[in-house]
Amino acid sequence: MTNISVLGSTGSIGTQTLDVLEQHKKLLFPQAFSAGSNIELLTTQVKKFHPKIISVKTDKDAFNLKRSLGRKSPEIFWGDNGNIEVATNSKSDRVVIATPGFPGIRPTLEAIKKKKTIALATKEVLVAAGEVITNEAKKQGVQILPIDSEHSAIFQCLEGRSISEVSRVFLTCSGGPFRGRKLNDLKNVTVSQALNHPSWKMGKKITIDSATLMNKGFEVLEASWLFNIPIEKIKVVVHPQSVIHSAVEFIDGTIIAQIGPADMRLPIQFALLYPKKRTSNKFKRFTFLDFPNISFESPDKKTFRCLELAYTAGKMGGTYPAVLNASNDIAVERFLKGDLPFYKIPEVIEKTLSAHKNSGKHNLENIIDADRWAREYASKIA
Ligand SMILES: NC(=O)c1ccc[n+]([C@@H]2O[C@H](COP(=O)([O-])OP(=O)(O)OC[C@H]3O[C@@H](n4cnc5c(N)ncnc54)[C@H](OP(=O)(O)O)[C@@H]3O)[C@@H](O)[C@H]2O)c1
Repeated sequence: MTNISVLGSTGSIGTQTLDVLEQHKKLLFPQAFSAGSNIELLTTQVKKFHPKIISVKTDKDAFNLKRSLGRKSPEIFWGDNGNIEVATNSKSDRVVIATPGFPGIRPTLEAIKKKKTIALATKEVLVAAGEVITNEAKKQGVQILPIDSEHSAIFQCLEGRSISEVSRVFLTCSGGPFRGRKLNDLKNVTVSQALNHPSWKMGKKITIDSATLMNKGFEVLEASWLFNIPIEKIKVVVHPQSVIHSAVEFIDGTIIAQIGPADMRLPIQFALLYPKKRTSNKFKRFTFLDFPNISFESPDKKTFRCLELAYTAGKMGGTYPAVLNASNDIAVERFLKGDLPFYKIPEVIEKTLSAHKNSGKHNLENIIDADRWAREYASKIA
């Protein structure tokens, strides 16, 4: 039995993680859940899965929840400390990180310090603090297993191979809802158009990142930290059918790709059960004949400038990737609120990156400072 903590249990990845827990009741035990403010769904999850510990965003919700669950209530925490409690409690073996963005860093780091295996969905953790997180994981001998489908694909293609045998990594990309459009076509994009992803049903923030291709830029940086591969060797290939989840080219020219249905529960299951032997489930199977035509294109980096900005920030290193992440967060938030047109998202990020001065040593304090500075700066750009 592996005891599982889930940070973000009410979200897209969180609910799919619980589907996986339900399929593997004899192997995976739901130990602790944390959520933000969807108390109704969390209450249903508590009644169904009986976690020992839960956490919510505010003390008020924690108090009300305790009262409504009565004698059957698990231990309840709240706020940042609550997330850390869920991530580090002594019974948990493996921690799923699926909360949004930057706030995922601290619980991930604390869980690593307590030698918990990490199943990571929140890519922003590695984008902003890749060096800090991977150094600590090395120090503690902790494995970070990817949940992102592309990175799970790469992990599976690499299994048993040394990174010195790899010549290139190909990250596949659906192209998002605006594939094929030019800059002029993006002038009047609405929120509901941007939230209409062709292949995946996900939370709002990652869906907008997929429409700008920043999601793919983040994934390049995430792959670089996870697999210790220079970003120059990581290439993005647009593949609209989302059938090949990614591929690795070895130095002899052989390419190994991972294929499967567009169902996040498969990479989640892989991350929760690894390195146990593969285990069957009831999820829908892939049918080759449903995809008689699969295709590949180069990403349009001129129209979708976020992808290039991510490569640039990654090459500059230091606190630049944290600034990339923070300014993107603000730009996306402003777009969702109707305060910034879609096509100006890259402009806000570029201006913030240009104004940033790299802050010396790469440690958590400098990353937090850079993040705070970038959020403030990006919110003021007209
Ligand atoms: N969705 C995907 O297919 C996918 C694929 C690959 C990677 N990812 C990554 O996984 C992460 C989560 O994505 P998602 O699509 O699952 O997002 P989502 O649907 O928006 O879910 C976010 C989760 O975080 C919770 N949350 C928000 N604030 C919190 C707080 N302060 N403390 C604790 N929990 C909090 C939310 O709770 P409430 O809803 O209760 O407020 C919800 O459970 C992102 O970094 C994304 O890039 C997602």
